[in-house]
This record gives sequence, C-alpha cells and structure tokens, in this order.
Amino acid sequence: ILSNSRAASTHHIVPFLDKSMAPAIAAKPLLSDLVAQSRQVPSSHIRAVGDRPDLANVDHESGAGIPLIDLKHLDGPGRRGVVEAIGAACENDGFFMVTNHGIPEAVVEGMLRVAREFFHLPESERLKCYSDDPKKAIRLSTSFNVRTEKVSNWRDFLRLHCYPLESFVDQWPSNPPAFREVVGTYSTEARALALRLLEAISESLGLERGHMVKAMGRHAQHMAVNYYPPCPQPELTYGLPGHKDPNAVTLLLQDGVSGLQVRRDGRWVAVSPVPGALVINIGDQLQALSNDRYKSVLHRVIVNSESERISVPTFYCPSPDAVVAPAEALVDGGHPLAYRPFTYQEYYEEFWNMGLESASCLDRFRPNACWTVQPAGCGQQNLTGHKCCLLPMMCRHTGRPLKDARSRQI
Ligand code: OGA
Ligand code: NI
Repeated sequence: ILSNSRAASTHHIVPFLDKSMAPAIAAKPLLSDLVAQSRQVPSSHIRAVGDRPDLANVDHESGAGIPLIDLKHLDGPGRRGVVEAIGAACENDGFFMVTNHGIPEAVVEGMLRVAREFFHLPESERLKCYSDDPKKAIRLSTSFNVRTEKVSNWRDFLRLHCYPLESFVDQWPSNPPAFREVVGTYSTEARALALRLLEAISESLGLERGHMVKAMGRHAQHMAVNYYPPCPQPELTYGLPGHKDPNAVTLLLQDGVSGLQVRRDGRWVAVSPVPGALVINIGDQLQALSNDRYKSVLHRVIVNSESERISVPTFYCPSPDAVVAPAEALVDGGHPLAYRPFTYQEYYEEFWNMGLESASCLDRFRPNACWTVQPAGCGQQNLTGHKCCLLPMMCRHTGRPLKDARSRQI
C-alpha cells in the first residue's frame, strides 16, 4: 500500500517484491513518468499538514525580491562599488542576482534547451542514467535522497560533476546528441564566473583577491539539472523543501517560471526570474570560510499546476580533501573560530546523510561539549572523549593550526 511513502521508494527499486503493492504507480522511479499516469499527487509526495508550503503566507515583492547587481563594471574602475554591493548582499541576504555576468546568451539558451530536451526523452532513454546513490558522479534521480527521506519531493534531477571537465564529460549523457558540447560550454563559462565572484567576495572581506580560490584546494564543480513537472496540487508538496546549499557558491540558471523562495526575517520571499540574470547564493562553505560573516540562507522551491520548470544550479565547491577554515584575519577575540576545521568530503557526506529538512548542517561543526580549542601553546587540548575531528585543531584566536592537537574518535 502506498500510504507509506517509503514503501513507494523501496518499491521502485524492487518492484516485484510484494505483489500486494500497487504496481503501475510505484514501478516508476522518476516523477516525470509517475505524473503522466495520475492527475493527483500520490501519497508518497504529500506532506504532513503542518509541513506544507502555506502559499498564502509568502511575500511577493516588486522586482526580483533579492538585490540585483550589475557586473558590467566589475573589471574596471567601478570595481570597488560592485565588490561592496556583492559584500553587502552576501552579508545581509545570502542571495543576489547578477546581470552582465559574461555568460553569452546563446550559451545560456543552449543549456536550457538541451536540459528540456533531456527530460522530454523517452523514459527508457532517461532511465539509462538512473541511480539513487548520492556518491555517483553522474546520475539521474528524483526528489532529494530517496534512500533517506520519508516524503518525496516534486522534482527529478540530473546531477553531473563538471570540473575538471575532461575527467567527467565522457560519462555524461550522450543523448540529446548536443548534450556534452552544450553543457560543457555552459559549465566552463559558469566556472569562469564562479571564479570572478570568489575573487570579488574575497576582496569584499578585505582579503587578497585570490584568497577564496586558494582556500578551496583543487576545486570541484557539480551541476544539477532540475526538472519540476507541473503539479496538480502544489499546496501539498515541495519541489525542494527549505534547505541551505552545502557548497561554496551556487550560480542558478532558471527558465522564466517562478518557484524559488528565499527566507528573510522569518518570512518566505518569492524570487521572480529576471530575464538574462542569474541567481547567486552563498553556500555553507563560504559561511565557514568567512567565519560566519556571510550567510548561507534557507531557500525552497514551490511547484505550480500550469507549467513545468527547469533550473540549473552550478554548485561550486572545494575539492573533497580541502580543509575548510577561515583566513586568520577573520578570526579574533570578537570573532572566535565559528566551526572546527573539516574536510569538504566530511561535510558533504554529513549533508547527504542528514537530509534536507533537518537543522543546518553547519551547526554540527560548531564548538560544543565535544569540541573545544584551547589557545595555542597552552598545552591543554581538551581531548578526552571527543568525537569527530581527526584534523589538526586550530587556535580560535589566531586561526593557526595547533601543533599535534588531534581529537580522538570515540
Ligand atoms: C538546489 C536549489 C533552486 C531551484 O537545487 O539546491 O535550491 O530554483 N534549486 O531549482
Ligand atoms: Ni539549493
């Protein structure tokens, strides 16, 4: 019976396990194919009453709903003003939009076109890429993490690792035939923009221009191609429930359909797409690297009954082995080290395991009873019974690694 949502997701992995389950609906791993069979939201996707979007209680502002920043003068004499605007948006909103971002219109249009073509391919063709394993570099899946979540989300998504491009492009879908070339071009352009933004963000914090780029090791870049089918009852479900992005910075390309909402002052604010603009948001890694000055902000996606929606976030991240810790200049008596150092891999695994609806993943890395740092040189590292951190600890006053200080795993 499908009243239990987990039954539905286990079911589509092993459809023949229990003959009493409703076969026609549950046998579809992807939402796009499931909705084609039904004009109602299946029970697997219906949220509990207190956990629904409450659409009447959303602010629809005039304009984009978040700051709109023109990057035209970023690389000229006007740089300082643009950098300041970016810094203010990172500190106050965690979200902003950019125009004149340098990615050619034809590249953006190509990306959206090929994304739509991909999701309109026959089911058998799309299913070749299907996997529910979050560790896979290339996969098509549904919802967020069907292995851990209780209620599914109204979304299918293709997830691709994009950098270094030559390491991954041969594993990308080869259908539609233009996919690899078009998406490769877009992801290369998106990376160039991410690097320019990271430079501006470094400067806005009073750091060297190359600081963030250096702090992220060899870097990684992931892309999601999100497909939100029209939904007969949008008030019952989410495209994506409220979450914060785990990466450093996200560059979101969306088609003209609204759906993104951002949390501000305890309210949800609808972000209206601006033609030609990209949405940029700070992820958890930039919050940690800025020692909590810049905010990774909750956002969610609402679906609608009229149109499908496509969005393409580029998640720019540290490489898995990069140790994430703020610049010394951002740590002092008034601004103690906000998080213990961690590798991005450690963080990322925690993120996928805990699921989207839990409290912020970053909070699990805050100093607490299990983890404290003593000033360098005091010789007492408070190590008894601590779990989690196998990295050298850092001094909360200087941000420098504490020599030989290691916590133990319990
Ligand atoms: C995401 C996300 C927003 C959107 O994929 O993390 O927040 O508009 N997407 O699809
Ligand atoms: Ni997100």
